[in-house]
Amino acid sequence: MGPVSTKPTDAAPTTPATPSAVAAPAAAAAPARGPGALLARARRWTHPVLVANLVAQIGIIVTGGAVRLTGSGLGCSTWPECEPGQFTAAFHSETSYHQYVEFGNRTLTGVLGVIAVVVAVLVWSDRSRTRPYRLLGLAPLAGVVAQAVLGGVVVRMHLNPGLVSLHFVISGVLVATSLLLLHRSGEGDGPPVPVVTPRLRALGTTLSVLTVPVVVLGVIVTGAGPHSGDDEIAYRIAVDPALMTKFHAASVWLFLAVLVATLVVAVRTAAPGTVRRSLWLLLGITLLQGAIGYVQYFTGLPWVLVGLHMLGAALLVAGAVRVPLTMRTRAVVEPVTAHDSARDRATSP
Ligand code: HEM
Repeated sequence: MGPVSTKPTDAAPTTPATPSAVAAPAAAAAPARGPGALLARARRWTHPVLVANLVAQIGIIVTGGAVRLTGSGLGCSTWPECEPGQFTAAFHSETSYHQYVEFGNRTLTGVLGVIAVVVAVLVWSDRSRTRPYRLLGLAPLAGVVAQAVLGGVVVRMHLNPGLVSLHFVISGVLVATSLLLLHRSGEGDGPPVPVVTPRLRALGTTLSVLTVPVVVLGVIVTGAGPHSGDDEIAYRIAVDPALMTKFHAASVWLFLAVLVATLVVAVRTAAPGTVRRSLWLLLGITLLQGAIGYVQYFTGLPWVLVGLHMLGAALLVAGAVRVPLTMRTRAVVEPVTAHDSARDRATSP
């Protein structure tokens, strides 16, 4: 049986994992040379690559926002080329800087794509980890492909309302998945063991779930307002923006109430430091984001604030997904080696 070790977190109780359920087969032992050995060495870079992936996923929300807020959505007239027969942007008076904004966003999409490929290779090739974790490593790549195809469809269908909104929602899911992947890479594959009370866990999960209506309602407000990205009729979704803003703000107040309740319970039950820190961080992000929301609303939606609000939304999604992850621990299960298997056979009754 492979040895089980725990990570040095401030998480409290750990129970023995069930290695038979999670341990990799003997054949998974890293080869000494060849491409397998090269990959094994490259895996030392998994953590920084996953951090870069998360940062890029958040960054693309901001550059994508810049495209919309500066009205550069059709700066390039076609896709994947910027202009027919030409991949890069070229200045001409009719489109001014819009081509560059759109082309810059497409370039970052390329960088994101490269990072996503590296993530997929590093994570999927790690046969010492479980299949669900390795599959999670493919999510950024799948998401980037989906976004690129959607981007192309949006250009060809001349900014169809529903599709533009879907862009932000998929990006939010990708930020959440990238945060989860980063967190999972640093913990083991043993069964999750709670380090907080059941009530606190329920509150933490509720917080993550409440992020969905907050973001979706925000996207609807944007689609109904002047920054929808549609220059001709000035909105994409035919609903009352003021009413939708009220619903959006109400969902934020509910989120804030649950967040404060979670913090109070975390402090009262002396939850581990990582849990309390992640909650304080989320509270800071939420208050700042809420303040930006109100200020932009009452100052006529200046595009700089709207851009900051998009960055805040991405950070809030990441922060909210992280909270329940800090409320558990998972033991590291070492892969079963040929030597371990032989020893187990020799010592078994
Ligand atoms: C604190 C948590 C909040 C989050 C996570 C959040 C998230 C979002 C998101 C995702 C969008 C859509 C962005 C886009 O599609 O480009 C949005 C738009 C918007 N939010 Fe919030 N929001 C929050 C708080 C608030 C508050 C308290 C207000 C105050 C009324 C507010 C007002 C707005 C407005 C007016 C828009 C439309 C901006 C535009 O024209 O593009 N938000 N929000």
